[in-house]
Amino acid sequence: MAVTTDRGMGNTITILGVESSCDDTAAAVVRDSGGRAEILSSVVYGQTGLHAPFGGVVPEIAARAHAEKIDLCVEEALKTAGLSLDSLDAIAVTAGPGLIGGVIAGVMCAKGLAAGSGLPLLGINHLAGHALTPRLTDALDFPYLMLLVSGGHCQFVIVEGPNSFSRLGGTIDDAPGEAFDKTAKLLGLPQPGGPSVESAALGGDPARFDFPRPLLDRPGCDMSFSGLKTALLRARNAVVAEKGGLTEQDRADLAAGFQAAVADVLAEKSRRAISEYIALAPAQPVLAVAGGVAANQTIRGILETVCTNAAVHFVAPPLALCTDNAAMIAWAGIEHFRLGLVDEAELVARPRWPLDPSKRSLIGGGKKGAKA
Ligand code: KG4
Ligand code: ZN
Repeated sequence: MAVTTDRGMGNTITILGVESSCDDTAAAVVRDSGGRAEILSSVVYGQTGLHAPFGGVVPEIAARAHAEKIDLCVEEALKTAGLSLDSLDAIAVTAGPGLIGGVIAGVMCAKGLAAGSGLPLLGINHLAGHALTPRLTDALDFPYLMLLVSGGHCQFVIVEGPNSFSRLGGTIDDAPGEAFDKTAKLLGLPQPGGPSVESAALGGDPARFDFPRPLLDRPGCDMSFSGLKTALLRARNAVVAEKGGLTEQDRADLAAGFQAAVADVLAEKSRRAISEYIALAPAQPVLAVAGGVAANQTIRGILETVCTNAAVHFVAPPLALCTDNAAMIAWAGIEHFRLGLVDEAELVARPRWPLDPSKRSLIGGGKKGAKA
């Protein structure tokens, strides 16, 4: 990253953000007027329908769909914001981590726009976009603790600054959202799995099946969710072998047991992450969450209780800003631009890009999308 001098470092900064690292093509315009942030537009073209027949995101299909839709998405974001490129201060784009074909589609689009308009280009880490969102929505001060928990990510980070993150731990295999999606598949429930498992679990007994709480016996904040999927498969197969199929109640009990196990793991690891974070003596301690799994009421409820017990404020941005979007990329762009950090035309797309390079890389970190 190069450092600029004074361009746009005054009060009002308006940035176009572009996001295409997984299965959402997105563009947004965000304006920050001396500390007051405003999302002027946020357009997201999802690809769920394209991938549904395959039971997961197919990278080649995702890349092609991003390449087809990204220009339209940018046009729509500018139109909704009522702005043209010459009223912007810069262009921010997700430059990783993620499915590389999609990331390249976004980076090429942003490079073209920057070259054509003469605007500065900012390559943003997708995970930094998620991690900085609570500053856009709730004007949080640094340092705050962040739990990123979705179909592609699961990690605890202390957000110390726009470009400074300390990772406390993360999943060593699958992300919880992937495990929810797999569970739905095994139970014959529709995708995306999270909401359907959550509603199936409503009438279920979480104690009927004995699901493991992986890695709770080990110190630290690392997590594992792939064993839970296997445990669910075994429990389901045992019921099917015994009765020849699953009743609604079996489905509900399996869903409730699985969900309770995920919630318990996230709760205990959050307790540990909070005690590491509290040791920094933050003036106003906060745990913020982002990612689709944070929409789950059981998980959200247990995290709120953990926070209340630890006298830590719990912040969950609106769901549309918790899941993949480009407003978070534009906002992270504003934060970087204020620090004078801009990229040159040689900006490269990165499949992997850890938020905290000082920590050993996670083995999995979520297969669906971003890896770090
Ligand atoms: O953040 P997101 O939209 O996309 C990325 O993965 O980056 O998260 C989607 C994931 C999916 O795996 C979905 O099943 C899960 O979040 N999810 C949920 C719920 N809503 C979405 N998981 C559990 N409970 C939910 N209510
Ligand atoms: Zn994401």
